[in-house]
Amino acid sequence: MNIERPTVIVTGASRGIGYATASLFLARGWEVISCARNPITDIEGFDNKLITHILADLTDTDSLDNFIKVVNSLLEGRALTALVNNAGISPKSHNSERLGCLNGDLDAWRDAFELNFFVPLKLARGFASSLHKGQGAIVNLTSIAGHMIHPFAGSAYSSSKAALSALTREMANEFAALNVRVNAVAPGEISTEMIQPEYEMLIPRIPLNRMGTPDDVARSVFYLCSEDSSYVTGSEIWVTGGQHMS
Ligand SMILES: NC(=O)c1ccc[n+]([C@@H]2O[C@H](COP(=O)([O-])OP(=O)(O)OC[C@H]3O[C@@H](n4cnc5c(N)ncnc54)[C@H](OP(=O)(O)O)[C@@H]3O)[C@@H](O)[C@H]2O)c1
Repeated sequence: MNIERPTVIVTGASRGIGYATASLFLARGWEVISCARNPITDIEGFDNKLITHILADLTDTDSLDNFIKVVNSLLEGRALTALVNNAGISPKSHNSERLGCLNGDLDAWRDAFELNFFVPLKLARGFASSLHKGQGAIVNLTSIAGHMIHPFAGSAYSSSKAALSALTREMANEFAALNVRVNAVAPGEISTEMIQPEYEMLIPRIPLNRMGTPDDVARSVFYLCSEDSSYVTGSEIWVTGGQHMS
């Protein structure tokens, strides 16, 4: 590992927004440590030596603890510049029915809160010391659904993302003492495996009149991890094409 390079951890980098984020940081010369339950199969065009992808199920306590241990030993006491809490799940019913407060298994709520809320908190704690050394930044991937009723995103997902928005504020306040900035990016409708074909019908509600791309989100994440946002903490950037205004 090169001691001069900024280093970022990106969770959930096997596909979607996490993959685009890892790719962007690599393209901009950062060292990337990433994780997911599956490997990254396509990192063509990048110097593989600058990415270490670790297989981990972050909802499994042993696997999460092992991930923190392996990364801290990879860092060998070096500073960590950024942590991107991207891995997330949006539980769906088998018949595409929206999972609400009155239907569905409560275990789906626990699963959503574990990955979408508790894992970012656990990782922030696990990497607090390395982030302090790097005077670094944490970016949490929240959601438009955490702020308003969404026609397809379920209540468990939306509540967990609202909690993550609140956690971003609380962490920003407490991590400021460590010289670590904490912000969130709240995407709207982004074309990844997380969303279903019916989401296309939401396009007329989006002022920019298109779905977002994972790269659209990755660029805002990068901004919040870079020196360009050195006085920004406790903020949440909407990456929604304006959908949050309606
Ligand atoms: N797409 C949207 O429209 C949208 C909108 C608002 C917010 N977001 C948020 O943006 C983030 C990324 O979303 P996305 O659309 O890119 O989702 P995605 O395509 O479903 O990707 C999710 C990523 O999380 C990883 N992951 C899932 N469970 C995991 C676990 N237990 N341990 C480790 N990694 C795990 C997945 O990898 P493996 O399956 O290989 O583990 C995958 O890499 C999420 O937090 C999501 O809530 C997305």
